[in-house]
Amino acid sequence: MIDPSAVHDTLRRHQLVDGYPMVMDLERSHGSWLRDALTGTEYLDFFTCFASWPVGYNHPATLEPEFRAAIELAGRNKPASSDLYTTLMADFVDAFATRVTPPGFEHHFWVSGGALAVENALKTAFDWKARKVGADRCHDGDELVILHFRQAFHGRSGYTMSLTNTDPRKVALFPKFAWPRVHNPAIELDLDGGIANDIGASEDRACREIEAAFAEYEGRIAAILIEPMQGEGGDNHFRSEFLAKLREYADEHECLLLFDEVQTGFFGSGKAWLWQHHGVAPDVVAFGKKTQICGIYAGPRIDEVEDNVFRCSSRINSTWGGNLVDMVRCRKFIDIILGDDLAANVTARGAELLAGLRAMARERGQFSNVRGLGSLIAFTLDSVETRDEMLRALAERQLLALPSGERSIRFRLPLVVTAEEVQIALERVAACMPTGART
Ligand SMILES: Cc1ncc(COP(=O)(O)O)c(C=O)c1O
Repeated sequence: MIDPSAVHDTLRRHQLVDGYPMVMDLERSHGSWLRDALTGTEYLDFFTCFASWPVGYNHPATLEPEFRAAIELAGRNKPASSDLYTTLMADFVDAFATRVTPPGFEHHFWVSGGALAVENALKTAFDWKARKVGADRCHDGDELVILHFRQAFHGRSGYTMSLTNTDPRKVALFPKFAWPRVHNPAIELDLDGGIANDIGASEDRACREIEAAFAEYEGRIAAILIEPMQGEGGDNHFRSEFLAKLREYADEHECLLLFDEVQTGFFGSGKAWLWQHHGVAPDVVAFGKKTQICGIYAGPRIDEVEDNVFRCSSRINSTWGGNLVDMVRCRKFIDIILGDDLAANVTARGAELLAGLRAMARERGQFSNVRGLGSLIAFTLDSVETRDEMLRALAERQLLALPSGERSIRFRLPLVVTAEEVQIALERVAACMPTGART
């Protein structure tokens, strides 16, 4: 086995190495603590592998012999799960579809990677719309488009690059489609949690742009796609009323409403899906990250078209149909999260973190717009420089966090985080206040 001290050099000889300077100790990282195998330092992990690791490291239930046997078996063999089925797969699909997917969403599709989950949600919509209007009327689908939002991040695959518009480096130089992109009416909060910006005017602007797009692309918009909270774009939250308006537009203009819950889904918000906080049901949800296995689930509007992608063979597919190891791990996570009511835990811990951050902001005034739900917490600094300075300081104090949008810091808490760990995080944040100007 390669020594931890040789990891970066070994990798560097063969690939780009622009990640963390630490080497993760897979054996001894535990709960909310990520241990560096190089130094033995333990970091309080409020980045959770980019919001993808839900239950803390080496959760005791993952060390139980029965689970170890199942994941080892799945790991020794890799069936082409799209076409070759196993008891492990059936056990996972049944648990996900009956305990995680909300009632009324009968269709599922599995794939590896969040971008490919979104990609297949888009294909579902293109197929649905083309069959609705008649393939001849949209030139075999060539003229169909996706209405999406500024500051959206949906991944870096073929179709999704036409929608992602955060850091331009991520999509520059690659060919893209010029699909309609509209204003994202994000809420800004004061330190009592009330709405601080003119959200009515912002939503009106978005609605005007959406209506103009429906007029310009008459009969060609296959779907409206939105992250119910934009993660990478700045932890931008929307009002339920706005999401309800999108539902109306989708129904009125006969297109699908797609929610990208790759970053927000699977209990990250304190509910299984963030859209459930708003009570606005989409037609298709793309998921990934915390679910391990990625994919989509879809509701009854899909069945308005008889030969939809969930009925017609080979329209959406891949060799492995996801990854059986991920399915087995997700199956276990469902038991852990529901069994220990980790959604309630992260709801309470997130509220404590929000309250602590707001108190700090009130006292010191160095950041604003403290916002979030459950594991998804963020605040905004006055400049990109102070944000980056604070992120560096937090890492030096062994608190791992992420940038969000232009000037925000986001935390992505493990669902197992404790009240003590939240207090430790608050102390570390207080010790890392930027030296720059007040917001
Ligand atoms: C909202 C959202 N959609 C899609 C993706 C892409 O997921 P992946 O990186 O697994 O392809 C991400 C990744 O951060 C995301 O946050």
